[in-house]
Amino acid sequence: MSYLPFPEETVEKFVATDKYICSSLLQHDEGLSSALEANRAAQVDEIDVAPNQGKLLYLLTKMTFSTRILEVGTLGGYSAIWFAKAVGSGGQVITLELEPEHARIARSNIKNAGFEGVVQVREGKALETLEKMGEEGWGKEGRVFDLMFIDADKENNTEYVQWGLKFAKKGTVIVVDNVGRKGRIANPEDNDESVKGVRRMFEYIKGEKRLDATAIQTLGSKGWDGFAVALVVE
Ligand code: SAH
Ligand code: DHB
Ligand code: MG
Repeated sequence: MSYLPFPEETVEKFVATDKYICSSLLQHDEGLSSALEANRAAQVDEIDVAPNQGKLLYLLTKMTFSTRILEVGTLGGYSAIWFAKAVGSGGQVITLELEPEHARIARSNIKNAGFEGVVQVREGKALETLEKMGEEGWGKEGRVFDLMFIDADKENNTEYVQWGLKFAKKGTVIVVDNVGRKGRIANPEDNDESVKGVRRMFEYIKGEKRLDATAIQTLGSKGWDGFAVALVVE
């Protein structure tokens, strides 16, 4: 974590605080822990949400009584398992993943956690899968998602939010990961494609009257980043 623009001893405190929070408020969950272990064994990048962030997604799902979840960016299925825990056996989680190897590991982790019947991992470019889902009837006749989590290629964040709106009802919640990027989004000279992607999404949300939104910076075991939360208001 020494790549963060803070002294090492400060970063150690961020990490220790996250550890404290997790050990105080999170219970051990075999399915979630095994997923992280399997990801590590397969050398999958450790960019899943942090455990306390996963629990926040779980609580947001419960708070909104959500039963249908759409996720863009599966990786090894860690966040998808959190959503599955929240919606339970009567719910549905559809998660979109580009990399066949990630999708394979995620399916195995999800099965091991007991959520094979709840989570569907759909392989391919998310924009193409979303298009197909539209043709399959998502967004029509009450086939909508209650909550959506966007956590894939940041360049397409705006398009993912737009698809989310097509598949939403009034009251749907859209959460977007990685909107702070170590403070880089606020630096107009930073023209990294993913940073520009996040900024373009903020501009879009600002002008979209169906959405009311905020964003919160996050600091902890995953470094310095942020979550955006948007509510579909009409
Ligand atoms: N939500 C996961 C982490 C996702 S990491 C968790 O917290 O556990 C981002 C994932 O998005 C990676 O697995 C990457 O392969 C995937 N991804 C990147 N571009 C994509 C695209 N165009 N369509 C679908 N998935 C994509
Ligand atoms: C990266 C992607 C993520 O979704 C994340 O949460 C952290 C890092 C990345 O691409 O580096
Ligand atoms: Mg992320």
